[in-house]
Amino acid sequence: MASGTEDEFDPLADPEERRVIYSVLDSFALSAEGKAERAACYDPVLEALRAEFSHIPDPDKGELHVLVPGAGLGRLVMGICCVGFSVEGNEISYHQLMASNMILNDITRAEQYPLYPWALSSSNHVSRADQLQGVMIPDVHPAAALEEASIGKRMHASERMSMSAGDFCVVYKNAENSGVYNAVTTVFFIDTAPNLIAYIETIRNSNGRAQDQGIAEPGSMELTDDEVVALVERFGFKIEKHEVGKIATGYIQDPRSMLMNIYRPSFWVARKQ
Ligand SMILES: C[S@@+](CC[C@H](N)C(=O)[O-])C[C@H]1O[C@@H](n2cnc3c(N)ncnc32)[C@H](O)[C@@H]1O
Repeated sequence: MASGTEDEFDPLADPEERRVIYSVLDSFALSAEGKAERAACYDPVLEALRAEFSHIPDPDKGELHVLVPGAGLGRLVMGICCVGFSVEGNEISYHQLMASNMILNDITRAEQYPLYPWALSSSNHVSRADQLQGVMIPDVHPAAALEEASIGKRMHASERMSMSAGDFCVVYKNAENSGVYNAVTTVFFIDTAPNLIAYIETIRNSNGRAQDQGIAEPGSMELTDDEVVALVERFGFKIEKHEVGKIATGYIQDPRSMLMNIYRPSFWVARKQ
């Protein structure tokens, strides 16, 4: 919806709003077809969280609080909750927040809605049928998954998952959020920073003593991966793990397309000093 007073209501979305809406509708990642992309990016994060907090028994992991800035449609948030942690997603985009709210709270069954992620892009298809290929979302019914994830846990998953709306740097840089989170995890978020130092300082503020970990997508940043990691260290973290080139994944990539865009994101785990 275009902005303006009620009298000026313009039913046509402006180009920027259309771009954001298309990116939300690209929620291909929520489908079964997007499973490989999710696994490539989220599994290393979940694995690192499990390893870091292996000394806490699974039923008690709800005592640990994980923050996920730039949560998008909330799939990583849900994954972390299913592992047993308490988790808070943060998202700046109302379009993403509305979509994640619908997916997480209003869906009544798996594969409830068809989505046509490539319908509006006419290039590089082998056939028109490929362009119009639909996927069903979500492949997992969140309420059922969260119910299952509550078995044997001290806290029900619904008490362990929340979302906050707003700019990460505004919401989490204050004293109220200082040291609150045992871990801060990001996937494809670092590269959205207009000012990376502000992101790092905010992560540092909100992180308690444990760790930060991330998968960055350095290709879309002006800083090189070495520079990102050097900045993270310069601002009070020790990099404990840093892998480049081990993960190769598309991001909302049509597996049938004649053009394959593959990211080789950098994965790192940093501990606050
Ligand atoms: C590329 S998406 C990644 C989403 C999700 N982490 C995933 O793995 O699919 C980046 C997300 O960060 C959000 N974002 C960008 N700047 C932000 C900010 N300053 N505070 C909170 N969220 C932000 C965007 O709206 C978008 O949903």
